[in-house]
Amino acid sequence: MDLDGFDPNRMPRHVACVMDGNGRWATKRGLPRTEGHRAGEEALFDAAQGALELGVRYFTVYAFSTENWRRPAEEVRFLLEVIADRLLTRRRDELHALGVRIRFIGRRDWRVPRWVLRRMDEAAALTAANEALTLTVAFNYGGRAEIVDAVRSIVASGMPASKVDERAIARHLYDPSVPDPDLVIRTSGEFRISNFLIWELAYSELVFSEVLWPDFRREHLFEAVREYQARDRRFGSAAAHEGIPG
Ligand code: FPP
Repeated sequence: MDLDGFDPNRMPRHVACVMDGNGRWATKRGLPRTEGHRAGEEALFDAAQGALELGVRYFTVYAFSTENWRRPAEEVRFLLEVIADRLLTRRRDELHALGVRIRFIGRRDWRVPRWVLRRMDEAAALTAANEALTLTVAFNYGGRAEIVDAVRSIVASGMPASKVDERAIARHLYDPSVPDPDLVIRTSGEFRISNFLIWELAYSELVFSEVLWPDFRREHLFEAVREYQARDRRFGSAAAHEGIPG
């Protein structure tokens, strides 16, 4: 790939995506919504390859929220099948060959079928030692639920209240080994966070794209990274890159 125009020293380490617009993409074509999810899976694979080309180390995608169970049973079943049959069987081996480590975040509650959990565990175990890219799939995930679960686990650990600080909460999130996202992309022209990584994205740069997720390709990722690199991240200080002007 032509990496011209990118500053290799300011590559986002972690990019996270809200993959929105699958339903509208399908409806526009007179197809059932499920076809949008099928096409969305192709888009995800292309974007993950783009992340590898750029040298992004962590790529997190919102595949299924704690609210998505409210969708029609047929759509929920299809989404589970796309994730379990395509991502966790066929793609699993392709991603493994590319050096991708697959991880999951979200609640492992009674609503997630056992066979899906088993495939997730198998994919995570198979790819555990890979280092090129960590692909985290947020499944049955909610940002507030994640914070609730972190607080529950802190309370269960018996930690005294005076010891509970931001680092303690961060250490009890679903995957403390993953750094906070530098860049969060949401597609389909919606300007919401929708309960995605709400603790972790406190300082993330947000990029909103008009593209419907099934049309998203690595070039759109590159475009978002260019926009990210043009921004000035300050983390609350006066100036990020030059220091405080004198
Ligand atoms: C939002 O579009 C998308 C989802 C709820 C599911 C995302 C799932 C995929 C991209 C399928 C593949 C995922 C994996 C991990 C293999 P929407 O249905 O809410 O679209 P709409 O807003 O146009 O209705």
